[in-house]
Amino acid sequence: MGAAGIRAAHLAGPGPYVFEDPWALKLTSDLYRQLAERGELAGFFAGLGLTPLVGQVVGRARWNEDALEESLDQGAGQYVILGAGLDSFALRRRDLLDRLAVFELDHPDTQRYKLARLDELGITIDPRVHFVAVDFEEEDSRAALARSDLAANEPAFFSWLGVVTYLSHDDVMDTLVGIRAATCAGSQVALDYPIAPQELGEPDRALFESIRSSSAELGEPRRATHVPELLRREICDLGFECIEDLSSEEHRARFFANRSDGLGPYPQVRLARFRVV
Ligand SMILES: C[S@@+](CC[C@H](N)C(=O)[O-])C[C@H]1O[C@@H](n2cnc3c(N)ncnc32)[C@H](O)[C@@H]1O
Repeated sequence: MGAAGIRAAHLAGPGPYVFEDPWALKLTSDLYRQLAERGELAGFFAGLGLTPLVGQVVGRARWNEDALEESLDQGAGQYVILGAGLDSFALRRRDLLDRLAVFELDHPDTQRYKLARLDELGITIDPRVHFVAVDFEEEDSRAALARSDLAANEPAFFSWLGVVTYLSHDDVMDTLVGIRAATCAGSQVALDYPIAPQELGEPDRALFESIRSSSAELGEPRRATHVPELLRREICDLGFECIEDLSSEEHRARFFANRSDGLGPYPQVRLARFRVV
């Protein structure tokens, strides 16, 4: 709900827009809709000192969908969204559904809310969109994917945004092993991951600690952080090659150059893309 609230807040502001998600406000919680009705949504996250989180959420979404379209042009016909949350791709890009089957994997609690909300809004789900409930801490991603209609011998694009931060190192690796086993060479995985706090200077470390403690208070503790070089090596050892691993500076240069409003990504998170070999 927070991520969708952020996408809605971005669109409620004056722009320029890094990512446009007109469904976010409809899908997120009443709290954000009430703020929007009062004209307070655009400035809400900035008022909490969370502008870098806004930049992160809209920047990663844009980066991911740019990469997806590139992958689609190269022949991928399946899009797997791991930890989809209130991602609206399946509603926003109905134009692509004749070329793309979409699989939304998510925690059962989150998915239940989303399906109920879609039902409440009277939205019919396209038959090319598949929902698979999974708790990555309890079930192997390969087993979860095996319950779906994902074709293992056809290239797929996996997006895994805003989730790695909530998982232990072992659960991240197990999920990637499952993805590797469930798909074929040429498939890609796009993910964002938090770097170890010792690699951050101040005030970025203070922001990291404050986000970590507010997440824990919400009952969604953030878990492992990663050293980029080591993480890349471990993922490549599982049978992937790294396509890109953007620092927050590279992320900023790609999507936030020449802005006057200070919007930019969260300094602790990198955007990495891997291809199955
Ligand atoms: C911050 S949201 C990101 C949602 C979406 N990917 C986006 O970028 O807007 C985190 C997502 O991770 C999912 N998640 C967290 N822990 C999980 C777990 N153990 N198993 C499955 N999904 C999980 C949540 O249900 C939620 O949808």
